[in-house]
Amino acid sequence: MSNYETIITSVEDGIALIQLNRPRVLNAINRPMVTELLDAFEGFDRNDEVKAIVLTGNERAFAAGADIDEMKEDDSVSLELLNQFKEWDRLATIKKPIIGAVNGYCFGGGFELALCADILFAAENAQFGFPEIKLGVMPGAGGTVKLTKLMGQKKALEWLWLGDPMTAGEALQYGVINRVIAPELVLEEAKKYAKQVASRAPLSVRLIKETVYKSIDYSTYEGMQFERKNFYLLFSSQDQKEGMKAFVEKRPAEFKGK
Ligand code: CAA
Repeated sequence: MSNYETIITSVEDGIALIQLNRPRVLNAINRPMVTELLDAFEGFDRNDEVKAIVLTGNERAFAAGADIDEMKEDDSVSLELLNQFKEWDRLATIKKPIIGAVNGYCFGGGFELALCADILFAAENAQFGFPEIKLGVMPGAGGTVKLTKLMGQKKALEWLWLGDPMTAGEALQYGVINRVIAPELVLEEAKKYAKQVASRAPLSVRLIKETVYKSIDYSTYEGMQFERKNFYLLFSSQDQKEGMKAFVEKRPAEFKGK
């Protein structure tokens, strides 16, 4: 258990849980929450006991966006000086698997936070969207870029220009999320998946994550060179020796993450 004000965290069986906890404002993401999220994510990333991280909200909302009350008086100079997206950028440096479990509203900065999860499970009642256009702004924490990379330029523009919510079914159809699940099961299924990943060779999990994200920005050739280096790197691990020895000896491998 933790002493955070805007999130609740716990660890069970190697799986860390981070739950957004500002229910009165539908988990609107204020600046203290971003700082606390980073502290929790980076702490779990360093914690050897933790193999995967599950990120969730509550039944009504994953998060209904950045906190509008907090930013309504901001101007471009105050935002530049605040440099708040520096913390968001650090989210992309988390090495362990992040599984997102989304119920209810997932809008604006909340959708951007959800998109920081490597795998996304959503409840049938989840709604995703970037309503920023209705506030006279646009996404600022990667939403425009990530949505375009996930669903393609034409579909992304269609959604970003109107700012209307998409259903979980639509998000699945466009490749934005991984699975649609009954609302009461979404967190359980996310934890179950996290446990499955946690049972795999941890260094392989880590380097596959790194290589997949590099492949988004690299050319096919550059991506394959990067992949090869990581493939070679794994042959320096004890887990590679154990994994292949276990195969030959016809027994389950016991991976140590070394
Ligand atoms: N910021 C601050 N407060 C918020 C909020 C937000 N993003 N979203 C909801 N709330 C608050 C409401 O003001 C309300 O507070 P009060 O009870 O004190 O009035 C409380 O949460 C409950 O909300 P509603 O009464 O509006 O609930 P609803 O079920 O009728 O509607 C909703 C739900 C459709 C999600 C609606 O709350 C809404 O449209 N919220 C704003 C969504 C939005 O525009 N998000 C984008 C924010 S900008 C952004 O995220 C920028 C970025 O990229 C970094």
